[in-house]
Amino acid sequence: MKKISDMISNEIMTAFEAAGYRRDYGRVTVSNRPDLCEFQCNGAMAAAKEYKCAPAKIAQDVLLSLGDNKLFSKKEVVNPGFINLNLANDFLSSYLNEMKDSCDLGFEKQPQATIMIDYGGPNVAKPLHVGHLRSAIIGESIKRIARFTGHKVIGDIHLGDWGLQMGLIIHELSIRKPELPYFDESFKGEYPKDAPFTISELEEIYPCASGKSKEDEAYKEAAMTATKELQAGRPGYRALWNHILNVSVSDLKKNYEKLNVSFELWNGESDVQDIIPGMVEEFKSSGIAHESDGALVIDVKENDDTKEIPPCIILKSDGASLYATTDLATLKDRMKNYDPARIIYVVDKRQDMHFVQVFRSSRKAGIVPSSTDLTFIGFGTMNGKDGKPFKTREGGVMRLESLLNEIEEEMFNKIVSNHTVDEAEARQTARMVALSAIKYGDLSNQASKDYVFDVERFTSFEGNTGPYILYTIVRIKSILAKYKEAGKRDVAGSINPPANEVEKALMLELSKFNAVMEGAYEELAPHKICSYIYDLSNAFNRFYHETKIISEEDAAKQSGWIQLLRLTQKALEISIDLLGFSAPDRM
Ligand code: ARG
Repeated sequence: MKKISDMISNEIMTAFEAAGYRRDYGRVTVSNRPDLCEFQCNGAMAAAKEYKCAPAKIAQDVLLSLGDNKLFSKKEVVNPGFINLNLANDFLSSYLNEMKDSCDLGFEKQPQATIMIDYGGPNVAKPLHVGHLRSAIIGESIKRIARFTGHKVIGDIHLGDWGLQMGLIIHELSIRKPELPYFDESFKGEYPKDAPFTISELEEIYPCASGKSKEDEAYKEAAMTATKELQAGRPGYRALWNHILNVSVSDLKKNYEKLNVSFELWNGESDVQDIIPGMVEEFKSSGIAHESDGALVIDVKENDDTKEIPPCIILKSDGASLYATTDLATLKDRMKNYDPARIIYVVDKRQDMHFVQVFRSSRKAGIVPSSTDLTFIGFGTMNGKDGKPFKTREGGVMRLESLLNEIEEEMFNKIVSNHTVDEAEARQTARMVALSAIKYGDLSNQASKDYVFDVERFTSFEGNTGPYILYTIVRIKSILAKYKEAGKRDVAGSINPPANEVEKALMLELSKFNAVMEGAYEELAPHKICSYIYDLSNAFNRFYHETKIISEEDAAKQSGWIQLLRLTQKALEISIDLLGFSAPDRM
C-alpha cells in the first residue's frame, strides 16, 4: 500500500502543477500544530521566491486547482501562505480498512537484499555483563526491522574466543589442576570428553586469573605464552579451549534465549585465524601494507579528514595479529560465503575509530567492494542513576543474569499485587513484562546516546515505558475477550468513519504505521518505533476512556470499534515484536 503521507502529497503536488508551479513544492507533512490542522504544506512560501509572487496567492491558486477533493474535509490558506489540511473521515476509514485487510498492514516490502548484522560480540569465558546488553538488544531489533522490511538478514554473534582470556584461564588451570592431561606434552591418549570445570567455576577462574595477571608480571608472561601456544595449535591447549568454548557457548545460549535474542551464526574470531597469514601476504605483495616501527600497517587517512586517523595495525612487531586483523579476515570470509549487500555492526561507540580503520582498510585492500555498504552503529553507555556506568549495589560489574532476575522480581511483586492472575501465571507474565521494561527502556533512546538505567521508571505501568505499552495491548485483548464472551464474533466487519476527535486521532496514528516502519529501517532507528507506539497507545487510551465499547447497543457501531481495536492491537504487536518482546494476555 502507498503511505498515506504520499497519497496526500501526491494530491497537493498535482494541484501545484496544475496551477502552474513546480510539483515538488507540494510536499505535505504532518502538522506541527495539531490544534489547527492534521497536515500542512509549506511549499507556497518557498515557491514565492522562485515565482516572485505572494505565498498566499500561490496557496490560493493551488487550492483552486485542487477543487473538490475527496481526500480532504478541510483545506485552507493561513497567512503567510500555509496550506492547512484535514483528512476526510471516510477516506481515513477506507485507508485503515485496506490496511486491516492487507498482509503486514499493507507495508510495502523492499526488493530482498542480503544483510549481515554483527552484534552481541560476547567474549567467551567472561560472564555476560550489562555492557553486552545493548549490543544484543539493539542488534536484535535492527535485525527484525530489516527482516520486516523484506531483506534476508543473517545475524552473526562474532564471539571473542581467541584472545588473552583463553591463555589466562589455561594458565590458571595449570596451577590449580596440574595433573590434568592437557598440560602433559607427552600425553598421547584421548582427552576426556567432559570439561574439567563447570560454568560457575569458569566464571570464577577468569576474574581471578585476570586479577593475578595485573599484579604479577611473571603470571602475565605465562598467560601470554599459553595464548601463543594455543594459537600455534598445542593439542592439549586446543582441547581445553574446546571445553571452554562449549561450556561458555551453552551458557551464552541460555542467556540470550532469556533475552529473546538469537543468532543465525555463532562464528567467532577463531574461525578466521587460518586465513590471516594468506591475507597478510596479499597485503604485503600488493603494497597496501607497509612496515612502520617494526609493525605492519595500512595507512587509512584521507585528505578531507577533520581528525587524525592513525594507520590500521595488521601485525605487531612480534608478528602477532590484532583485533583489526581478525575483523578484516572476517570481512573476507563474509564476502566469500554470503556476499552481503550490507554489513551492519552494532558495537560500543568507543570502538568507532577501530571500525573507521577496518572499513577503510577493507576498501583499500579490495576485500569489500563499493557495492557492499558497511555501517557502524555505535551505541552509548548504560549508566546508573549516578551517571556512571551501571554497577551492582556493591559496586561490581552487574551480570546480565542478575539484572534480569532483579527486574523480574520487581515486576512479579507488582503483578501479584494487582491480583489479576494467579502466582504461576504471574511468574510467566513477570518475565515478559520485565523484558519489555529493559528493552523498551534501552531502545526508546537514540542508540548513540548514553542513558540512565532507571529501574523504577522503566518498570512503571505509566509513562513512556514497555510495561505501559503491554498494558495497553492487554487492555485491548480484554475488551476483545469480553466481546467474544457476549457471543459476538469479531472476524468480519469494517472500521467506520470516525465519529469524534479522539477516534479520529487514534485513526490518524494508525495510518502512519507504514511510514514509521520505513523510517525505522532507513535510519536503523528502533527508537522511532518506540515513540510511535507510545503515541499510538496514548491515542488509544484516550479513545478508550471516552468510548463505552462493550455496552454500546448499536451493533454496527460496536463492530466497527472492534475492528479498530483489532487493527490497533496488530500495529502494536508487530511493533513490539520488532523491538524484540511480546505481550501477555493479562497483567
Ligand atoms: N568482543 C568485542 C568486545 O567485547 C566486540 C566485538 C564486536 N564485533 C566486531 N566485529 N569487532 O569488545
